[in-house]
Amino acid sequence: MKTALTLSGSIRKGSENRKLQLHVGRKLAEAGVDVTNLDLTDFPMPIFNEDLEPDNVPEAARDLAALWRSRDIIFIATPEYNGGLPPLLVNTIAWLSRQRPSPFRQAVFGIGGVSSGKYGTIWSLSHLRDSLSKIGALVVPGLLGIGPAEEAFDDNGDPVEPAIIRKVETMVHDLTHFSRG
Ligand SMILES: Cc1cc2nc3c(=O)[nH]c(=O)nc-3n(C[C@H](O)[C@H](O)[C@H](O)COP(=O)(O)O)c2cc1C
Repeated sequence: MKTALTLSGSIRKGSENRKLQLHVGRKLAEAGVDVTNLDLTDFPMPIFNEDLEPDNVPEAARDLAALWRSRDIIFIATPEYNGGLPPLLVNTIAWLSRQRPSPFRQAVFGIGGVSSGKYGTIWSLSHLRDSLSKIGALVVPGLLGIGPAEEAFDDNGDPVEPAIIRKVETMVHDLTHFSRG
């Protein structure tokens, strides 16, 4: 059985990206994948600073890296902050990029995001794809950008727009098709 992790770059209560994370998690589970939905609140890490290495690397960085290495699929939902990535995600990626063996070289990655603007995180997704690719991750091609956020999900947390539903289906197909396991 294939295994997946999902996570959200926003940990605020009522996060729209958490909704997307959980929706994709449900769809992967329906496709027969064993899914774990993570909450980055459970992996607290200080702002990355090389002076913290090697003696003060947070336990959370090692734990999260081990989890990432152990799964076939990783889905990341990210907000867009000022046309880029939120600091939580940048910090998490910085810490994980310093762990060995690389936690970016085992799973296949899917990315998506929800923002309040109508362009739906296309800039933050572009940054995330670029950064993940440059550190050796394989990211499936779909552009799952959703906005404006307030109209995106129904009361069950499922996307409303048919085009978004189709994009999630394609993402789930690609993630299961291209992953090991
Ligand atoms: C610091 C900050 C910067 C933001 N910059 C953008 C932006 O560049 N583009 C955009 O569409 N929305 C932007 N937003 C609005 C977010 O898209 C919106 O708050 C979204 O709901 C955040 O995701 P979440 O609900 O998962 O927390 C910004 C919000 C914050 C707090």
